[in-house]
Amino acid sequence: MTDTTKDLPMALTLNVVTTSTRPGRKGPVIAEWFAGFAREHGGFEVVAVDLKEVGLPLFDEPEHPARQQYQHDHTKRWAALTDKADAFVFVLPEYNYNPPPSFFNAVDYLSREWNYKPVGFASYGGVSGGIRAVQAAKPLMTTVKAMPIPESLAVQTFTRYIGEKGFEPQEFHLSSSKAMLDELLKWAGALKSLRP
Ligand SMILES: Cc1cc2nc3c(=O)[nH]c(=O)nc-3n(C[C@H](O)[C@H](O)[C@H](O)COP(=O)(O)O)c2cc1C
Repeated sequence: MTDTTKDLPMALTLNVVTTSTRPGRKGPVIAEWFAGFAREHGGFEVVAVDLKEVGLPLFDEPEHPARQQYQHDHTKRWAALTDKADAFVFVLPEYNYNPPPSFFNAVDYLSREWNYKPVGFASYGGVSGGIRAVQAAKPLMTTVKAMPIPESLAVQTFTRYIGEKGFEPQEFHLSSSKAMLDELLKWAGALKSLRP
């Protein structure tokens, strides 16, 4: 029998990362919808990651992350989860015009695991839809040599779109999410060749 799977390219992995961790957070509602939409898109193997479950304390590694001499199991688990991904979408709220501290903390824990990988954002908030937080997150991502792409999902006045069944997207949420995933797929394929 012919093995029809052996010539197929390996699926690229997209980690959809819920970044808010506070009790009563709304992030999982957006994240659950986005992860489902990304699975339907079909370009990626989608892994849902929740920073609350990852459970990182405030950064507590003695060595610079680029050395990858991780002392703690929580860091080793986080590094393995991140290392396996080819692309990321951070589900990002806006706290005081910035990303939440859990986002900065989780990114700072690692270094090489982010290198040469594209990053998109599914942000949400009031009138801004979280776009100020997204812009504030980009310098950090470029410092760890990740590529934040311009296409994004921004959900303005997001509570209007949360109903009994979760996030209820409008047409413009669907089109911007699709545009982001299409671009992430291009970048993820191209950047893979830059990694060891
Ligand atoms: C500390 C804090 C600061 C906030 N600052 C902003 C802000 O700058 N812009 C905004 O649109 N919403 C802001 N909000 C409201 C959030 O958009 C809203 O609480 C949202 O649910 C936060 O995401 P989360 O529920 O996943 O934590 C803030 C909320 C908190 C808790």
